[in-house]
Amino acid sequence: MTTQTTTALRTHSCGVLRTSDVGAAVRLAGWVDSNREHGEGLVFIDLRDRAGLTQLVFELESTTSEMVDPARKLRGEDVIAVEGVVRERLGGKNPRLETGDIEVVVQKLTILNKAESLPMRPTDKEGLPGEETRLRHRHIDLRRPRMQQILRTRHRVGQIMRAFLDNRGFSEIETPILFKTTPEGARDFLVPSRHHPGMFYALPQSPQILKQILMISGMDRYFQIVKCFRDEDLRADRQPEFTQLDIEMSFIEQEDVIELMSELFREMWREILGVEVGDIPRMTYHEAMERFGSDRPDLRYGLELVDISDIAQKTDFKVFTGALEKGGVVKAIRVPGGAKLTRKITDGYAEFVKQFGAGGLPVTKIENGAFATGVARFVEPVQKELMERLDCEEGDLIAFGADTRAVACRSLGELRIRIARDMEMVPAHGEQWKFLWVVDFPLVAWNEDEKRWDSMHHPFTAPTAEDLEKLETDPGSVLANAYDIVLNGSELGGGSVRIHSSDVQKRVFRLLGLGEEEARMKFGFFLDCLRHGAPPHGGIALGLDRIIMHLCDTDNIRDVIAFPKTQSGMDAMAGAPSEADAKQLDELFIKSTWTGEKQPG
Ligand code: AMO
Ligand code: AMP
Repeated sequence: MTTQTTTALRTHSCGVLRTSDVGAAVRLAGWVDSNREHGEGLVFIDLRDRAGLTQLVFELESTTSEMVDPARKLRGEDVIAVEGVVRERLGGKNPRLETGDIEVVVQKLTILNKAESLPMRPTDKEGLPGEETRLRHRHIDLRRPRMQQILRTRHRVGQIMRAFLDNRGFSEIETPILFKTTPEGARDFLVPSRHHPGMFYALPQSPQILKQILMISGMDRYFQIVKCFRDEDLRADRQPEFTQLDIEMSFIEQEDVIELMSELFREMWREILGVEVGDIPRMTYHEAMERFGSDRPDLRYGLELVDISDIAQKTDFKVFTGALEKGGVVKAIRVPGGAKLTRKITDGYAEFVKQFGAGGLPVTKIENGAFATGVARFVEPVQKELMERLDCEEGDLIAFGADTRAVACRSLGELRIRIARDMEMVPAHGEQWKFLWVVDFPLVAWNEDEKRWDSMHHPFTAPTAEDLEKLETDPGSVLANAYDIVLNGSELGGGSVRIHSSDVQKRVFRLLGLGEEEARMKFGFFLDCLRHGAPPHGGIALGLDRIIMHLCDTDNIRDVIAFPKTQSGMDAMAGAPSEADAKQLDELFIKSTWTGEKQPG
């Protein structure tokens, strides 16, 4: 961090003084971090600012002994300024502190502001209060060195992104927040219009349509570090309002975007962590689903899914044969050392997979060189073949999934993640960075509940040229020109080459069940743009918050956002959302129909 912090009130920050400064007269300002009194009227204050801590000494014997008393009365988080002289520490040096070799003997103390008793202390050490308290008193929470470091890193990452893209001819262009629906699969946040009663803006789920229009406008290379808004159920790595590095480029193919973004990730990891990422491997969506049961596989551990349908066919185990007769599959995971898992734990796994639609979880253990427990007797006839296929070893646990392909892959994929965590197979933070490009996504997926095709990415993603002709006849088999970047099991970004022909766009809207009229109403303006000379284009968006989570080693997205929303979408500090007053609502012609009975779904 730059040390250029000289202002009227200070000559140095609290993190920079070293033995080379001994003898210098300095002025420092900051917060009282701690206050220790030693006998004989000696008072030590740790003064803190964002750069670190400096030890201040107030001495009775010194010329300014009248300051000892006020110094003694200073309390944590009081804001003070001091003038003094740097000297080598007389007491013990503190090797854990960058300024641990020196102290400042204070000659003048100015109390800039007293702090009243605090709801929490801004310390990273033991006793951090619960998250609710931290979010409510964010102004203090953010004083913690850890939070300061995270927000500095976030700033630096933003700067790296900007410089990287600027050097490659990209322009940062702002797009509106008050706009129209830009679908990314979530609900829209709506903003009522006072000038147009009964009408609403939608906050963009991403600038997708707008950045495409910028390409049609000839801007060629666009980026923006931009807020996106999605009214969806929150998870540990989701926020209703989050930040993307959003990118769009003209006259490109998939390869151009993948190359450029790989280089950006290499640069970020090098600059922030000093880590060489190297080449980023690729895997098709199909392979990711078959081997890992996920389109964002964590490649830091094994536990791969193995198809054993052909072997299962030869048993008369109803669970297996039933699934196969219905056109499903039988898959298995081998858990090395899993035989030590108790019955209670494996029963827990059986319950766990049910939430992903599985009917149950047949398991067996390898003991004395053979299947020993659980469904062992059902699979006995094919035991040898199975053990070979799965490379079984003494002490393994084998878990089976027999179901439709989708359910078997998904449920075993989720189980794989859970077992890896339970068995401590996940390496510690920073040990391994398993980046992966997932490519060849299907264009659409069948939504059984709604009986319709949904976009896998978004409706503007281009089908591959080879598959275009199957759009109407066999949509499920059409591959998209889409790609995701995955790191250690989390999706950091996704993008695609776009449809640039209005005819193809119309066909895709039709496939998604969007009638001609509805398509016109919602996206007519965009279809017109596509007809007025749209170049081939494509791009990607990276989740900035998630990138910072990885770089700063936290699995809580709220830790990397200065003012995040709680799990229930509230701002705990200011108390948002809040009721609007009657006058505001009148001006908007809005009346609530909410009775307080039915909670929103
Ligand atoms: P997508 O919807 O995949 O693509 O979003 C891109 C990336 O944004 C991050 N992300 C989120 N982060 C935090 N909270 C959320 N609620 C959230 N939702 C998404 C993820 C994700 O990979 N317009 C396209 C991009 C494109 O095609 O160019 C889009 O938004 O890391
Ligand atoms: P059962 O024949 O009911 O004793 O089941 C034998 C094993 O198969 C148990 O471990 C069950 O958890 C599992 N199982 C039962 N039904 C299903 C199913 N529909 N799908 C997957 N596993 C199942």
